[in-house]
Amino acid sequence: MPDLSTSYLGLQLKNPIIVGSSGLTDSVEKIKNLEDLGAAAVVLKSLFEEEIIMEMEETIYSMTNRHFVFPETMDYLETVVKEDILASYLELITEAKKTVEIPIIASINCVSSQKWTYFAKEIEKAGADALELNLFFLPSDNQRGEKEMMEATFDIIRKVKGIIQIPVALKISAFQSNLIRYVEHIDQVGIEGIVLFNRSWMPDIDINQLVISSGFVLSSHSDLGNTLRWVSMASGRVNCDIAASTGVHDGAGLIKLLLAGAHVCEIVSTLYINDLAQIRKMTDELSKWMETHEFNTIDEFRGRLSQANSGNPAAWERVQFMKHFRNFV
Ligand SMILES: Cc1cc2nc3c(=O)[nH]c(=O)nc-3n(C[C@H](O)[C@H](O)[C@H](O)COP(=O)(O)O)c2cc1C
Repeated sequence: MPDLSTSYLGLQLKNPIIVGSSGLTDSVEKIKNLEDLGAAAVVLKSLFEEEIIMEMEETIYSMTNRHFVFPETMDYLETVVKEDILASYLELITEAKKTVEIPIIASINCVSSQKWTYFAKEIEKAGADALELNLFFLPSDNQRGEKEMMEATFDIIRKVKGIIQIPVALKISAFQSNLIRYVEHIDQVGIEGIVLFNRSWMPDIDINQLVISSGFVLSSHSDLGNTLRWVSMASGRVNCDIAASTGVHDGAGLIKLLLAGAHVCEIVSTLYINDLAQIRKMTDELSKWMETHEFNTIDEFRGRLSQANSGNPAAWERVQFMKHFRNFV
């Protein structure tokens, strides 16, 4: 039997499949079930800075029926609501740690480096094995250039790394100018892992109601290519570990990303589309493939087809179809 174990953020994992941050990981029962079905680790549903602010606003409105409140009430509510949401999150970590053996990676969604940073310390105290920072700047702000985006990211990393000792991974969006430079700089600032990529809520238009609606939430197989491209290019250029996320739906996708240089894959959509048994199917497929190719460990083939090692670096940077689609029908 090949050895599927791997390490990520310094954590020893029994295989390279992590269940990504989502509603699949928001209770102890679900996490226990995922462990039983073969998941090597889980990333908890994110704690959202914006959600805390929204809940505060709702509480204020239900108390007063108006949006204006005295600043003292505001300060009081801010503390109470934050503590409430944080307390349930910390309880989830503590209970999960008592119940399962697999590593628990907490997740915070941050849009600034402001008030939430102290959550990181509390999360560490509750026993989380690592922290994933869920970062998503839509590059639509014409007042903020690439430099400001980078500085904001570095500021977040420095603040968090300054207050906790557990490993930290940064989950970023694919919508960044000069992604590789961005990733290299993040690595240099000092982080244990990078997650490529986050997936955003997508808007749609309801043509009957003439309103903006929610687009389809889940990824598909066709999203894999973009993740593969950037994982292969980042591999070998950064010292931190790489987690691949977006479009990994089956064992073949997992194997491709390991060949491209990923340390682990974080999966979500495939578990909603298929079912949780997909975890075992994927590890079985990896195991059979390793046997066929006579690999005993993942390190024997990880990154073999990354941009640096593939012998055909240009293939990863090709963007025009040229002759490939000339006769496409
Ligand atoms: C229903 C749903 C909820 C999600 N919630 C979060 C979240 O709270 N935090 C986060 O970082 N990512 C969240 N994600 C993104 C996933 O963790 C993952 O990065 C993304 O779906 C791409 O992986 P996939 O192709 O395997 O779905 C969510 C995704 C889905 C589909």
